[in-house]
Amino acid sequence: MTLLQPTILRFASIDSTNLEAVRQARAGAQEGLCIVAREQTAGRGRLDRSWQSPPDAGLYFSIVLRPTLEMNAWPLITLMAALAVSDALLKACSLRADIKWPNDLCVNERKLCGILAETVETETGSAAIVGIGINLKANSLLATVSDLATSVESATAAKPDSARVLEELLKAIGERYDLLQSPQGREHTIREWCANSSYAIGRRVRIALENDTFEGTTRGLESDGALRVETAGGKMRLVRAGDVTALRATTT
Ligand code: BTN
Repeated sequence: MTLLQPTILRFASIDSTNLEAVRQARAGAQEGLCIVAREQTAGRGRLDRSWQSPPDAGLYFSIVLRPTLEMNAWPLITLMAALAVSDALLKACSLRADIKWPNDLCVNERKLCGILAETVETETGSAAIVGIGINLKANSLLATVSDLATSVESATAAKPDSARVLEELLKAIGERYDLLQSPQGREHTIREWCANSSYAIGRRVRIALENDTFEGTTRGLESDGALRVETAGGKMRLVRAGDVTALRATTT
């Protein structure tokens, strides 16, 4: 298997690096094309939310991947990306972040990175677009989200070097993506994700689905990355989309 060869296209300002990556993939971009912008005017988050992207306050990054994985393993690409961000923050900023299912990175329960993975059909086959937004500077946060969010600068009390974060991120994605596509790569990625997430096992959580909310205790991941949550009645529910909130710990 050949290692990912990243090529970077940089923009001063763009609507969304994910939208540009989708356009580039449809126009035939190869695996490894990365879009980086200093500002996004229409940054997008999961579940149709927006992603605040003021100039030079965060890393706004998307990559085009053309995985050879079976389609049912594609959800693991976001777990792989979360692990890569975790590796990069540790290397570039000495910051150890927690991964919250499915792919937020948090410090002290506050979010400092979000990941949006999308699938796009192109003439040369399906592509995965993985968008990563990291709050780097303390001023990246609007007052309305500041009690739920944090930044690398706030968490480390130091100004992050965004070029270094990007360099480590590219290395980590190359390694983690290569591992995911290797034999045993799915099991390995799930194991590593569980080892880097306080949410994986035994965590009391509230799950908000589109039309339902329930509480339970996390019991690891399915082979496709779904979160297993055991309810008080002993029923195991599998969560493939939705929001997870931590509840106060119990002994279960
Ligand atoms: C989330 O947590 O809801 C996902 C946020 C993903 C934000 C990043 S910023 C770079 C890329 N471009 C976008 O429009 N979104 C992703």
